[in-house]
Amino acid sequence: MNFDTPIERRGTNSNKWDDMTPLYGVSADDGLAMWVADTDLPSPECIQDAVRKMLDHGVYGYTDIKADRDYRDAICWWMENRHGWSVDPNAIFTATGLGNGVGMVLDAFTKPGDGVVLFTPVYHSFARITKAAGRKVVECPLVTENGRHKMDFDGYDSILDGSEKLVIFCSPHNPGGTVWSIEEQQQLVAFCRKHDLLLVSDEIHHDLVYPGQKHVAMRLAAPDCQDILIMLTAPSKTFNIAGTHTGNVIIPDKTLRAKYQARSVALNLSTNSFGIAMTTAAYSPEGAAWVDELVPYLDRNRQTLEAGLASIPGVAPMTCGATYLSWVDFSGTGMTSKEIRERLLGQAKVVPNMGESFGAGGETFMRFNFGTQHARIEDAVQRIQAAFSDLQ
Ligand SMILES: Cc1ncc(COP(=O)(O)O)c(C=O)c1O
Repeated sequence: MNFDTPIERRGTNSNKWDDMTPLYGVSADDGLAMWVADTDLPSPECIQDAVRKMLDHGVYGYTDIKADRDYRDAICWWMENRHGWSVDPNAIFTATGLGNGVGMVLDAFTKPGDGVVLFTPVYHSFARITKAAGRKVVECPLVTENGRHKMDFDGYDSILDGSEKLVIFCSPHNPGGTVWSIEEQQQLVAFCRKHDLLLVSDEIHHDLVYPGQKHVAMRLAAPDCQDILIMLTAPSKTFNIAGTHTGNVIIPDKTLRAKYQARSVALNLSTNSFGIAMTTAAYSPEGAAWVDELVPYLDRNRQTLEAGLASIPGVAPMTCGATYLSWVDFSGTGMTSKEIRERLLGQAKVVPNMGESFGAGGETFMRFNFGTQHARIEDAVQRIQAAFSDLQ
């Protein structure tokens, strides 16, 4: 697969490219979009072929039982072959993306006013969805040690006030790219037991893990947590098909599953035939071979970006073990976030995500998406180095 050839995304209703000007005042003509978490890389041929086949047929009616069975089998195949995790096909629900999956889980398992524990800084929509649902965000700050995040369970006990019903855990972590160890995941389960919390493990980034790191699905890391566990997975980040808004809520426990099912029926949630076809095509040997080419490509981007930014005095990227999102601390520059923003947007014309939107601890950080052509990463590094050249 050739990932180096740029594909024009401007003018295609791309959130990442076409919303740069209205939201950040940076023209897409000469700006670089490094914010929204999709990539500028094409999806594998097996997915494109599946869409073409559907498209060419010209009739887009309801999908049948066989399509649903193939889809579930493909999900089970992927989890077994890529993650060593045997999934019961009956445990799988389809959400309209994992943002919707989070919303559904809150709806099914919590009430307005209940507390929801987030380990911050974390993917910004967790807090947005939780607040919009009338639930209370309880921020448990992560600590940073040797370039990776850590949970500080001793410190968290005094933050909780007993109103909490559920934890949303991001594994691997966005932002920061921390791949959690089995021990850390088991400690989290112990924390959930102690405070009587359900555990939602959002593993959307689980396929994009760099050499030397090993992601272990929560279902396997803590096999005894099945009665409190809700797993979230999706092909959207892995295969760059976020526009399909198709993700999975996987619930091993039958009692929890029945509760979720009841809400799902009440809201008449059903699936989109294109999302089903693309997921089925993605979770295949062809899809797996493509991911095996993608990860080294992203890893090279990661290394170029981390080395380039780390060469600027006061700028410190975290060690990104997974995801295509680099979490970079600018606090050592001594500048205010307004000034950093002005240099990145105004001078470099590079648009990252602003760290403060990820919750407590993100104030001096920026998140850079390196899921793009390598030449663009080199360009971004040069621009950012130039914008901070007075620090050299
Ligand atoms: C951890 C995490 N969960 C969920 C999502 C959103 O997923 P979707 O686009 O399927 O709603 C993202 C997107 O960046 C994410 O990083």
